Amino acid sequence: MRSAFLFVFLITTALPAMAGSAYDSVFDLPALPDPARYGNVLISRSTRSSTHPSVSFSHWVHRQHYTCRVCHFELNFEMKTNATEITEAKIKKGEYCGACHNNQIAFGVSDDTCAFCHTGNLGATDARFPELKALPKARYGDKINWVKSLKKKLISPKQSILDEDYEPIPFDKVLRLEPEWSGIQTRALFPHLQHTVWLDCADCHPDIFNIQKKGTRHFRMDYISKGKFCGACHLTVAFPIQDCKRCHPDLK
Ligand code: HEC
Ligand code: HEC
Ligand code: HEC
Ligand code: HEC
Ligand code: HEC
Ligand code: HEC
Repeated sequence: MRSAFLFVFLITTALPAMAGSAYDSVFDLPALPDPARYGNVLISRSTRSSTHPSVSFSHWVHRQHYTCRVCHFELNFEMKTNATEITEAKIKKGEYCGACHNNQIAFGVSDDTCAFCHTGNLGATDARFPELKALPKARYGDKINWVKSLKKKLISPKQSILDEDYEPIPFDKVLRLEPEWSGIQTRALFPHLQHTVWLDCADCHPDIFNIQKKGTRHFRMDYISKGKFCGACHLTVAFPIQDCKRCHPDLK
C-alpha cells in the first residue's frame, strides 16, 4: 500500500520538484556502503557450516584485470552471492577461483594462503583502495567511473582467459526505454556498447531481458530497485541506482 501510494504520488506530483537524494526513500534504495566496500561480497554458502571463516571477494580488485564476462560467463559464477556451488575441491581442480588462483596467474591454494581468501571480513581489501585514486571519479558506489577508465585505457581488463583471440561482438545499439506511464520525462537510455565491453550477450539475454524490443514486461523502478532487470547489476557492482542521470539524462 505504502509503496503504491508513494509511486502514484511520485509520478503525478512530486517527481518534477524532487532533488536526487529525496528519491532514495521513495524507491526504498538500499543504503550504500563505504566506497572501498562497494562490490565486495562475503561468500559463506559452505563455510558457514565449517570452522573456516567465510571468503571475501572484491569486485574492484578483480575488474581492473578481467571483464565480468570472464567470471560470469566463462567461469560460470552466478551473479548472486552464495548461488554458485564453489568448493575447495573444485578450486584445487582449477574451477572457479582456481582458474586463476593456481600459483601461475595469482596465488594458489596452500597452507600459507588459506587466510588470504578466508578472511571473514568484507573490508579485507580496504587498505588497497587508494591504488585506484588515479581513475576518473563517479558520484556513487565505489565512486570510480569505470566507463571512462576503460575508454581512456587506464585499465585494460582481459575479455577472455579461455580464448586468446576473443573479441566482443560489436553491437552498438542504444535503446530508448520508455516508461509504462506516459507524460513523465523519465526515458531511460540503454547503451549496448558500454555493456558489451564488459559483459557477454548471454549475461543478459534471455534471462534478465527479452531480446525483443519492449519484450521485457513490468520494466519499472520499483522492480529495478529490488534487484530485477537493470538492478541485477546496478545495485551492487555497476554504478548504483542513486546515480539517476546516468540512465535518465533528461531527469532534472
Ligand atoms: C583463492 C581463494 C581461496 C583460497 C586460497 C582458499 N580457499 Fe577455501 N574456499 C574458497 C571459496 C570461494 C570457498 C567457497 C566458500 C563458501 O561457499 O562458503 C571455499 C570453501 C572452503 C571450505 C568449505 C568446504 C568445502 O569443502 O568447500 C573449506 C573447508 C576451505 N575452503 C578450506 C580452505 C583451506 C584449508 C585453504 C588453504 C589450504 C583454503 N580453503 C584456501 C576460496 C579459497
Ligand atoms: C574475478 C571474477 C569476477 C569478475 C571479474 C566479476 N565478478 Fe561478479 N561475482 C564474482 C563472484 C565470485 C561472485 C559471488 C558469486 C557467488 O557467491 O555465488 C560475484 C557476484 C556478483 C554479483 C552479485 C553481488 C551481490 O551483492 O550479491 C553481481 C551483481 C556481479 N557479480 C556482477 C558483476 C559485474 C557487473 C562484473 C563486471 C563489472 C563482475 N561481476 C565481475 C566474480 C566476479
Ligand atoms: C580470472 C582470474 C581470477 C579469478 C577467477 C579469481 N581471481 Fe582473485 N585475483 C586474481 C588476480 C590476478 C589477483 C591479483 C590482483 C591484484 O593484486 O591486483 C587476485 C587477487 C585476489 C585476492 C587478493 C586481494 C588483496 O587483498 O590483495 C583475493 C583475496 C582473491 N583474489 C580472492 C579470490 C576469490 C575468493 C576468488 C573466487 C571466488 C577469486 N579471487 C577469483 C585473479 C582471479
Ligand atoms: C541503471 C539505470 C537506471 C538508474 C540509475 C535509474 N533508473 Fe529510473 N528507470 C530505469 C528504467 C530502465 C526504467 C523503465 C523504463 C523507463 O521508464 O524509461 C526506469 C523508470 C523510471 C521512472 C518511471 C516510473 C517507473 O517507476 O518505472 C521513474 C520515475 C524513474 N525511473 C526515476 C528514477 C530516479 C529518480 C532515479 C535515481 C534515484 C532512477 N530512476 C535511476 C533505469 C534507471
Ligand atoms: C547488460 C545487459 C545486456 C547485454 C549484455 C546485452 N543486451 Fe541486448 N538488450 C538489453 C536490453 C535491456 C534490451 C531491451 C529489452 C526490452 O526492451 O524489453 C535489449 C535488447 C536487445 C535487442 C532488441 C533491440 C531492438 O531494438 O529491438 C537485440 C537484438 C539485442 N539486445 C542484442 C544483443 C546482443 C547481440 C548482445 C551481445 C553483443 C546484447 N544484446 C547484450 C540488455 C542487454
Ligand atoms: C549484467 C549487469 C548489468 C545490467 C543488467 C545492466 N547494466 Fe548497465 N552497466 C553495467 C556495467 C558493468 C557498466 C559499466 C559501468 C560500471 O560498472 O559502473 C554499465 C554501464 C551502464 C551505462 C553507461 C553509463 C555511462 O556513464 O556511460 C548506462 C547508461 C547503463 N549501464 C544503463 C543500464 C540500464 C538502463 C540497464 C537496464 C535496462 C542496465 N544498465 C542493466 C552492468 C549492467
